[in-house]
Amino acid sequence: MDKKPDIYRRELVDVQGVPLFWSIAEEWSQVESFEARPDDLLISTYPKSGTTWVSEILDLIYNNGDVEKCKRDAIYKRVPFMELIIPGFENGIEDLKKMQPPRLVKTHLPVQLLPSSFWKNNCKMVYVARNAKDVAVSYYYFYQMAKIHPKAGTWEEFLDKFMTGKVAFGSWYDHVKGWWEKRNDYRIFYLFYEDMKENPKHEIQKLLQFLEKDLSEETVDKILYHSSFNVMKQNPSTNYTTIPDFDMDHSVSPFMRKGISGDWKNQFTVAQYERFERDYEKKMKGSTLRFRSEI
Ligand code: A3P
Repeated sequence: MDKKPDIYRRELVDVQGVPLFWSIAEEWSQVESFEARPDDLLISTYPKSGTTWVSEILDLIYNNGDVEKCKRDAIYKRVPFMELIIPGFENGIEDLKKMQPPRLVKTHLPVQLLPSSFWKNNCKMVYVARNAKDVAVSYYYFYQMAKIHPKAGTWEEFLDKFMTGKVAFGSWYDHVKGWWEKRNDYRIFYLFYEDMKENPKHEIQKLLQFLEKDLSEETVDKILYHSSFNVMKQNPSTNYTTIPDFDMDHSVSPFMRKGISGDWKNQFTVAQYERFERDYEKKMKGSTLRFRSEI
């Protein structure tokens, strides 16, 4: 495909008050009218919260741990990013239409923007949340390597944008709280990145329960191994190296960057940390949602 530089580094465009890539905003009616199926499984996350990790685990579960089958295509084709439409390049909705059920569907949309067909069909949903400071750091490096984003600016500038929700997919605070509030009314399994880091086997077992699926211990161990950071980093079907350089530049920062909890300590200054924490308290006040920023 030809390089089309004009699609890169463009400003975000608000959709109902949420900043999204310009191309998603332009094609919003396609997204809004997306037809979910009752047997779709939605993987919903704020960006950089472990979407790819959990997507790979779920595809491995859906394929009973058959590793070769899970190498049939890149993760972004096996688990299409529903709302990602880049004219001439990507269309998550078209990819999903072509897919055989049962489908795994990825979204980064805040809860209020999710197409209503998911609620009407009472689809099962897995929400993955990660602590704000690690997300902010991971997002800063991702903004730089994935050129669909506007320019990140300096870390200080980016952190400001993150805290004020002026980044793609909007406010982290609203996103995690919005999905948290919905979890009791719908079939939503709310998962934490930090719990996955601490005890991935336990979280995989909980996912299996949620999906009402039984796999042998041997298969679970296989899934655990193949979804570990180091194995996924080497696997072209999970590490995003199959995306052209002009779209994602891994020499700027690899997609599979560090995969740890607590990396924010290497990025935040003391002053930034203090300001962030004060602001965090205000924004998360009244919510029962609790995060661990290190494990
Ligand atoms: P870092 O940038 O902190 O390394 P997403 O898939 O939502 O975009 O999230 C990407 C983040 O998840 C990156 O975080 C990436 O390294 C991390 N990640 C991807 N696969 C992982 C795995 N198997 N184990 C732990 N972290 C993983």
